[in-house]
Amino acid sequence: MATDSISQVFDLSGKGAVVTGGGSGIGKAISTRLAEAGAGVVIADINEEVARETVKEITAAGGKAQAIRADVLSTEDAKQAVESTASSFGSVDILVNNAAIYPAASVLEMSEEAWDKVLNTNLKGLFFFSQVAAQQMVSEDHGGKIINIASIEAVHPTIGHSHYDASKGGVLMVTKALALELAPHKILVNAIAPGVIWTPGLETLLPLFCEPAGLTLELLMEMTVYPRIPLGRVGESDDIAKVALFLASGFSDYMTGETLVVDGGYLLS
Ligand SMILES: NC(=O)c1ccc[n+]([C@@H]2O[C@H](COP(=O)([O-])OP(=O)(O)OC[C@H]3O[C@@H](n4cnc5c(N)ncnc54)[C@H](O)[C@@H]3O)[C@@H](O)[C@H]2O)c1
Repeated sequence: MATDSISQVFDLSGKGAVVTGGGSGIGKAISTRLAEAGAGVVIADINEEVARETVKEITAAGGKAQAIRADVLSTEDAKQAVESTASSFGSVDILVNNAAIYPAASVLEMSEEAWDKVLNTNLKGLFFFSQVAAQQMVSEDHGGKIINIASIEAVHPTIGHSHYDASKGGVLMVTKALALELAPHKILVNAIAPGVIWTPGLETLLPLFCEPAGLTLELLMEMTVYPRIPLGRVGESDDIAKVALFLASGFSDYMTGETLVVDGGYLLS
């Protein structure tokens, strides 16, 4: 029998959260929702300008947030972001590993450098950020939530994305490995696999597919993207943020090692 109300289960007041890549796109939407639920949010982004802008918007709406320049490739930066969260907001309860890059490169032309950059940012960075945050959560002895942003490309490859797809496939397995090992510390680790979501990153990527196909962006979307999405629309960043809020809240307290696909039905077709 539930003893707490729905609003209490969603209430993140008094909790400290870190969101990597929280300055724009999906990370910004997640930061905004976590702050709306009461968490103090550290926005750890390699682009300090967008991080500051997001903090301004969150604080203007009455939320608590702080910007920090952090590159997920640097364990030192991860330590600083985690320490800032603990000192500014009292504890580290939630980590959202959202930062990732998704440049295009064909299998035949992939350079070792391009492969390493994507794997290191999207997978190695996520692992070590999780390690640093988990060490802090263990030292604070209250458990926590780690939410990894994967992709439907973890299970469904896209042309030009062999490095990205490998990194996201790795994110699903690292999610399970972290969940298994951190369960005794009451640190719950789950992933979200978004489908096609309008973000600044996607807006940069899509035009690269237009020229070789001889299509405008509108035609590319109408011919190749919309027909693949049963719900008939591209997702918004907030579609992912709402699911992230569920994973950060008390509504997912008996769930770990799982991946929630949020793709408007893309993988069904
Ligand atoms: N947009 C989509 O269609 C889509 C689909 C599936 C999965 N995803 C995943 O969602 C997440 C967010 O994607 P998005 O589309 O919002 O991206 P985006 O490019 O719009 O925003 C990414 C943010 O991460 C930051 N960032 C990049 N490299 C960083 C680094 N090394 N260290 C710290 N911050 C860094 C950027 O400055 C930016 O603010 C990623 O994990 C991506 O793989 C996106």
